[in-house]
Amino acid sequence: MEVRDAYLADLQGILEIYNEVVTNSTAVWTDGSDDLANRRRWFESRQGRGFSVLVAVEDGNIVGYSSFGEFRAWSGYRHTVEHSIYVRADRRRTGVGRALLSALVERARAYGAHAMIGGIEAGNGGSLALHQRLGFREVARMPEVGCKFGRWLDLVLMQLLLDSCQSPRRQFPKLGAGLAVWWKKSPAIERALFPEWRRRLAGVFSDHSVHCC
Ligand SMILES: CC(C)(COP(=O)(O)OP(=O)(O)OC[C@H]1O[C@@H](n2cnc3c(N)ncnc32)[C@H](O)[C@@H]1OP(=O)(O)O)[C@@H](O)C(=O)NCCC(=O)NCCS
Repeated sequence: MEVRDAYLADLQGILEIYNEVVTNSTAVWTDGSDDLANRRRWFESRQGRGFSVLVAVEDGNIVGYSSFGEFRAWSGYRHTVEHSIYVRADRRRTGVGRALLSALVERARAYGAHAMIGGIEAGNGGSLALHQRLGFREVARMPEVGCKFGRWLDLVLMQLLLDSCQSPRRQFPKLGAGLAVWWKKSPAIERALFPEWRRRLAGVFSDHSVHCC
């Protein structure tokens, strides 16, 4: 099994795994399945902001994926990311989830995030156990904040601190700020670059990598 960055060509495999989880579980709190166009918007948005989308591949087939993105929209949360992880139903309990989450933690660290959060349905023992195994700790348990299949769902937040920074760094210099604005307003330039370089450059100019110690 190989864990690597996702490409556009992987989106069909990602979509099928996601839709199976939506249909058959309370891991994702929505009833509606997704389509390819929506997955593509999600993927490009994540790439454009320097967030990682990883896939696990076996014999050329996508058997799982993981990703992190914004935790909450306000700028004060910029050092925190929220992640998700999904393994194809027939490949669970074979180490795919562990491999995907371990790799994603390293990506979040490289991105410059300070804290990583997983929001997990309280009855999802497999996901809770996986996160505990990888060092995440329960930091919140919120009763009846969701619903699906006609019943209330409790949310558990599991957190991992990714570095030992005592405080976030001050605002970066004006030149850096100007470059960051220019970068974010230049989708044509961004699109012209290969995905790996896009990811790296977005990381360089993201608020996180510049602000975090
Ligand atoms: C939760 C999920 C990602 C775990 O991935 P996985 O590939 O099955 O997990 P792994 O085989 O890598 O297991 C790693 C460790 O996690 C724990 N674990 C995983 N699934 C478990 C289960 N069902 N019960 C108990 N422990 C479990 C074990 O400690 C395991 O280590 P071990 O096999 O050495 O005992 C996977 O089951 C899945 O995709 N579920 C549906 C979607 C989902 O719930 N996603 C998470 C949303 S928060």
